[in-house]
Order: sequence, then C-alpha cells, then structure tokens
Amino acid sequence: ELAVPVGQRQRLNEEVLPFSAFLTDNFGRRHSYLRISLTEKCNLRCQYCMPEEGVKLTPRSQLLSTSEVLTVAQLFVREGVEKIRLTGGEPLIRPDVLDIITELRKLEGLKTIAVTTNGMNLARLLPKLKEAGLDLLNISLDTLVPAKFEFIVRRKGFHKVMEGIDKAIEMGYNPVKVNCVVMRGLNEDELLDFVALTEKKPLEVRFIEYMPFDGNKWNFKKMVSYQEMLDRIRQQWPSLEQLPLGKTDTAKTFKVPGFQGQVGFITSMSDQFCGSCNRLRITADGNLKVCLFGNTEVSLRDVLRSGASDQELLDIIGAAVGRKKKQHAGECLNISLYLLLLLYAFVLFYMYF
Ligand SMILES: C[S@@+](CC[C@H](N)C(=O)[O-])C[C@H]1O[C@@H](n2cnc3c(N)ncnc32)[C@H](O)[C@@H]1O
Ligand code: SF4
Repeated sequence: ELAVPVGQRQRLNEEVLPFSAFLTDNFGRRHSYLRISLTEKCNLRCQYCMPEEGVKLTPRSQLLSTSEVLTVAQLFVREGVEKIRLTGGEPLIRPDVLDIITELRKLEGLKTIAVTTNGMNLARLLPKLKEAGLDLLNISLDTLVPAKFEFIVRRKGFHKVMEGIDKAIEMGYNPVKVNCVVMRGLNEDELLDFVALTEKKPLEVRFIEYMPFDGNKWNFKKMVSYQEMLDRIRQQWPSLEQLPLGKTDTAKTFKVPGFQGQVGFITSMSDQFCGSCNRLRITADGNLKVCLFGNTEVSLRDVLRSGASDQELLDIIGAAVGRKKKQHAGECLNISLYLLLLLYAFVLFYMYF
C-alpha cells in the first residue's frame, strides 16, 4: 500500500485541516490520542494477557528513559495530541510515574492525562497521582468474586483493587472506568452483577470483548460478543438506554435510567472502530505502533538516540502514520465470524425445514 508523502498530505491538509499533517493519515484520521506504555513488567499475570512466567523483558537500557518519554510526548503534543494515556504492563509500578505525570501536566495543549491500571497500587498512590495532574482512570477488574480474581490474575489482591476503585470515586474521579474482559465460562455469569454495581456508584463498567493476543489461548468460543452481552443485560433491564456516541469513542455506552453510573462495550472483535481510530501507541522500548493489531513498528528510541532533530523525528512519525492501513487484520476475524454465523444459519435452516 503506497503512502501519500507527508509533503503532499501537508498541502492537502492545510486547505481542509487545522491539524498536523504528520499525525493525519491517508484516510483523514487525525491522531490526537497517544498511548504510552511505561513498562513491560506487571505485578499480575492475567490469563488473557500474560503467561504465568511473565514476558521476556527488554533490558532496561533499551527502554525509554524518563526524559525520552517526555521528549516524545512533547513532540506529539506540539503536533496536536490532546490526550495521553499511560499504560503497560502495569504503569503504576514504574518508579518515575509521578514525575512523568507532573511533567506532562506542564505541556500546553495536552488536555487529558489518563492511566490504565490493574489497581493494585492505586489506593496508595492516588493522592499523589491526583496532585501530579492525573485526569482519568481506567481500572481493570474482571470479577467481583475474590477467589475467581485470584484464578484469573494468578495473584491475590482483589480487596486492594476494590479499595483503589472506591478511593478513586471518593477523590472525585467521575466516571471511574472499570475495564472488564468478558470470557465465556469464566466471568460471563457476572455481567448483571457488574451492571448492578453502577446503580449506587458513578462507575462506567466497560465490557471488553476478549481478544486474541500472542499465546493467550484465545478461541472463538471463549469470546462473548457485544450483542450477546447486550441481550442478556436487556432481559434484566429492558429500559437500558443508549447514550450518544462521540466521534472517536471506542465504547458504546448505555445507562439504566436512575442508575448513577453507566456501562460501555468495547467491541474490538465484533464491530471494529478503525474508521474513527485516532490512536497511536508507543511501546516501553520506544517503538511507534500505528495500530494495536499491526506488527509494523518504527523505533523512535533509535532515532532519538542517534541525535536526530525534531524535524527528522517528525518525518519518521509522519511516514509511519502515512502507512497506517484503513482497517486492521482483525477484520479477517470479523469476516470469519460472519461466515461462521452464516454457516450456522444454513445448517439450522436445513435441519428444521
Ligand atoms: C494490557 S492492560 C495494561 C494496563 C494495566 N496493567 C491493566 O491491566 O489495566 C490494558 C487493558 O487491556 C486489557 N486486555 C489485556 N488483554 C486483553 C485481551 N486478550 N482481550 C481484551 N482485553 C485485554 C486489560 O484488561 C486492560 O484493561
Ligand atoms: S492485563 Fe494488565 S494487569 Fe493483567 S497481566 Fe496484562 S498488563 Fe498485567
């Protein structure tokens, strides 16, 4: 696939877009949201994400240092990034996380600093995180049953995560987003309990369709689709109403009338949101990924360490953004899903008629 050179995109965009040509791709998507992975390490071993023995870690010298993270962030913000999410691995185990947030807060133009965390260290760190300037929190929690928590994440800590969630509410984060990966036979029976949690708490529980990642033993049957989840919730709360969808929202959100909180669905498998994707990702070792599902990465770390100028860095970023595909390879999965359903419908048809 040929990329339109940045120069040409710049001219094109100058006429129609008040936004960086480097961060605008060939399909007009403006990338104003950057996710930075601060570490590959994690203090949990969720079955759907990491093997029991952990992942092979990159030597520390090859990870982005504090100042490199900030240099890259500054460059992206200057070009129009308005939201940065710190993730990982587990971002809150990185010792300089507070310094990074404090410095990010000083960047003019950066409207939102968010963190996605497993919540294990959250209650302890939250006052300092807030003071440093953290705006938004996503906390991962896949079950409300302590023993099941231990089974899913292969560690103890359920009460610590709950404490983190309650503290986030107490400190005024609203909504506090709770990420819940739904897996058949594991936690699908807790869907309604999670929705019930939003009655008295200003939470946004986000049900995430289980995605295949390297070695997580994903299989089609384990995935519970958005439609299936919605149907089950609607049986209990028929008045569940859909909330308006923002232009770049990845979650489809709903609310039970009268409940304080709401629920959302991240439908990466059954209904992609590639068309409105405004995200770019930087891995802990400084690779820029233009798509979560793509394998192509370009090392910003190596460019930075070679003493390149901001302009050279921008050219490389612009070229990578220019190569971003219209849709990710997950579409194959969606098509397979569709074909499988079609086949199933035919079989049923022939069995009964
Ligand atoms: C990779 S984690 C990193 C941040 C932090 N450690 C946490 O767990 O929140 C980011 C999010 O990805 C989700 N995730 C990980 N593996 C997944 C999978 N196979 N399918 C769907 N979501 C997944 C997690 O539940 C979490 O909410
Ligand atoms: S999902 Fe988050 S908490 Fe769980 S193993 Fe992956 S990085 Fe760690």
